[in-house]
Amino acid sequence: MDQVVDSKGENGEQSNDAEDAVTSQSYTHANGCSHPQSESAEKSSLDDKDCGSSARKHMDDEAITFETILNAFRFYKKHSLFKLKHAYDMFCQMPERQRKLLMPQYLNHLAKLKDCITHNHSMLRAIVANVGHMFENRDHQTEVEVTQLRAASEFHMDKLRSTLRQIVRDWSIDGAVERESCNEPVIAAVLERYPDVNARKDIQILVPGAGLGRLAWDFARLGFSCQGNEFSLFMLFVSNFILNRCVEVDQFTIYPWIHDSCNNWSYGDQVRPVRFPDVNPCDLPKTGNSFSMSAGDFIEVFANEREQFDCVATVFFLDTAHNIIDYIETIHRILKPGGFWVNLGPLLYHFADSTEMNSIELPYEEVRQLVVASGFRIDKEQQGLPACYTLNSRSMLQYRYNCAFFACTKLPSESDGTV
Ligand SMILES: C[S@@+](CC[C@H](N)C(=O)[O-])C[C@H]1O[C@@H](n2cnc3c(N)ncnc32)[C@H](O)[C@@H]1O
Repeated sequence: MDQVVDSKGENGEQSNDAEDAVTSQSYTHANGCSHPQSESAEKSSLDDKDCGSSARKHMDDEAITFETILNAFRFYKKHSLFKLKHAYDMFCQMPERQRKLLMPQYLNHLAKLKDCITHNHSMLRAIVANVGHMFENRDHQTEVEVTQLRAASEFHMDKLRSTLRQIVRDWSIDGAVERESCNEPVIAAVLERYPDVNARKDIQILVPGAGLGRLAWDFARLGFSCQGNEFSLFMLFVSNFILNRCVEVDQFTIYPWIHDSCNNWSYGDQVRPVRFPDVNPCDLPKTGNSFSMSAGDFIEVFANEREQFDCVATVFFLDTAHNIIDYIETIHRILKPGGFWVNLGPLLYHFADSTEMNSIELPYEEVRQLVVASGFRIDKEQQGLPACYTLNSRSMLQYRYNCAFFACTKLPSESDGTV
């Protein structure tokens, strides 16, 4: 199964402020999965300062964004080893008496960390090896061929580390508990709504903010026609690799926790490997259902769509909005009458702390009201579902969300949706 790009309308606009986002390009899996992409030039310019490459000077915003994220993947090893050197320098500065206390275990640990960084680096290189042609509507081979490595921003390196953790959440055995609490209630609600197995291929599901695509893939595996939508190139590069290049269970290994130097119980916890994928992504039914990923900003990609989907599933997505009402209205518009929307997640508004970007942060009671006022009937609701996000299960620090879950139906337009 190979991903190919299927353009949903490239408009060159800055679709959002996400610094790893692509502007409305998309790619499709051989089995139908397309990703939109939109990457802000604003952020790209941060990383461009030291770029003397003449090739980049002729690139448009889209290409610069693509190349910037690609460069971040390639810069991982340098950046990580540089940080590791700080730890080593600190050790060297300590009095000999103290160094002896830590010998040989601490230096052995640093050596192991270095090996893990080298391994992750190889993995990340493999992930971006084929991205030049991953989009159907646009070739990025020119960007791939820019080999001049530049310092990536701390922001992008942080995104890359988060992406490693997202692999754990979506595609490893270690993420099973998280998927059970985040994805399973949503899947169960959809299965309850659409019990006829034979009719599933005709049920069109959209998963906005699909991350690495596991929920979308799970719907496809169950026989539904499903499209994931995602705008982060970090996510798109990795999901492209997993969905199109992985052909067996536990094929690859990463060391996602090596950058967590705090809250460890043991040296071993920090360097423990995680294997992925926990399933073979090729194991999809041949029932005629489609599976695709569209790349780009959710609001933009579906700006002109109406009554296209039977079901929308949002997991840890609503709070990524600058304006959550835009999300609710878009979901309402793209659903067919009688369509089903299932949501699970917290309200950790992504732009709440931004000094540069506007954001409205509404409490759940208001969000719920808006859902109803937009024309939905809430069929099922639960408040306080415990769930974690890319949790390091062995860490001394454990964040837990008490999520909101609701499943609702789009009412005929004359109804106001009051329950
Ligand atoms: C908190 S993550 C959740 C990912 C996945 N749903 C999960 O539960 O693991 C939110 C995802 O939505 C994506 N995202 C945020 N805003 C988006 C937008 N406007 N359009 C498309 N994707 C978006 C982010 O890149 C990120 O992958």
